[in-house]
Amino acid sequence: MDHIEDDALCAAVGGPAGMRTAVDILYRRMLDDSSLAHRFTGADVSRLVAHQRAFLTAAVGGPDLYSGRDLGAAHSRLDLTDAEFDALCEHLAAVLRDLGAPASAAAEAVDRLQRLRPAVLRAPVDEGPRKGVEDSGGDGPGV
Ligand code: HEM
Repeated sequence: MDHIEDDALCAAVGGPAGMRTAVDILYRRMLDDSSLAHRFTGADVSRLVAHQRAFLTAAVGGPDLYSGRDLGAAHSRLDLTDAEFDALCEHLAAVLRDLGAPASAAAEAVDRLQRLRPAVLRAPVDEGPRKGVEDSGGDGPGV
């Protein structure tokens, strides 16, 4: 398991409670950031909670806990930009530093989020009509 790494990162920001605080502050700052806030207008609270959990998990537990498909599906309609993703990463790094985490720990957390960038930004929205799924057998396991 990845618990050694997780523990190191988590401990650097004051344990699980510290991470929760960090995500809480991160959210406040995102909602306060006029370049990001509009993205969350109208989002249902339970989704925001899911979002917070996702960040917590991704930042502390690594990206493997989320499949690219779930993230792609969750964000595909939003058509998010690299700049928005960058803004979020910068907020996270700043919050972690403000809470006293060493720069290396903040960088590690951001690095973990960065690995999810392709999944979050990939927006296969209206790539044309889906002609029906061919068959679940022949193509191998996909990506
Ligand atoms: C590593 C980065 C990210 C992770 C791990 C993540 C995770 C998630 C997850 C798991 C959901 C699904 C929640 C649910 O429907 O139950 C979600 C939805 C959402 N995410 Fe993200 N997200 C990331 C980046 C972003 C960014 C950069 C933005 C915008 C600035 C954003 C805005 C949203 C919004 C608005 C929803 C709700 C979509 C809806 O209501 O249909 N996310 N995110």
